[in-house]
Amino acid sequence: MSNDSRHLQILAFAGSLRRNSYNRHLLETAALAVPDGIQLTVYDSIADVPLFDEDLEKEHPAGPDGVRRLRAAIAAADAVLIATPEYNQSLPGVLKNTIDWLSRKTTDGQEVLAGKPIAIIGATPGAWGTRLAQAQLRQALVATGSLVMPAPMLFVRDAARVFDADSGHYDAATQKRLTAVLQSLQRWARQQLASVD
Ligand SMILES: Cc1cc2nc3c(=O)[nH]c(=O)nc-3n(C[C@H](O)[C@H](O)[C@H](O)COP(=O)(O)O)c2cc1C
Repeated sequence: MSNDSRHLQILAFAGSLRRNSYNRHLLETAALAVPDGIQLTVYDSIADVPLFDEDLEKEHPAGPDGVRRLRAAIAAADAVLIATPEYNQSLPGVLKNTIDWLSRKTTDGQEVLAGKPIAIIGATPGAWGTRLAQAQLRQALVATGSLVMPAPMLFVRDAARVFDADSGHYDAATQKRLTAVLQSLQRWARQQLASVD
């Protein structure tokens, strides 16, 4: 992104298919907490990304529909924000599956995550705030050549307490932490993108 004056476009998606996902709600709250200069779009769902299979990949050289749609949305964004749940002290299979698809070269030789600034956050009703899932997601993303923001990290624990089901939003303290993550992602993305301009 060479023009500093336009809004930074962030595409956000959650690693959960659950209708009432705490992680999807976290992104929706983030959309309310955006600092100036950012446009954040919450991607509807990764539900239409099929199970990765190299045979399926050969049958669909341009990618199955759900993969093509997500790749196009990521390619059009300056940066990505991922909210991951934690399953069995790791990232959910649906999210890892999505990263595996995104890591593959497109027919024109593009790797959509390579060089893409990415921030990771996560929420859990448990006590540890998705620390282990985020660490493993970070490791997988590094393998894709994406530029994962080192800090600040956001581990939302006790999600049932800090999320208000009536309003559909997280509490003010969580909103403040989300704004801080987005401000850092804005700086991180501008630095990273300027260095390749
Ligand atoms: C298979 C499975 C394993 C889970 N393992 C963990 C875990 O290791 N750590 C944790 O904090 N929560 C764990 N949970 C609880 C999830 O944090 C909880 O279901 C959460 O709501 C999932 O995120 P979502 O609301 O965005 O879908 C697990 C849930 C499932 C279904």
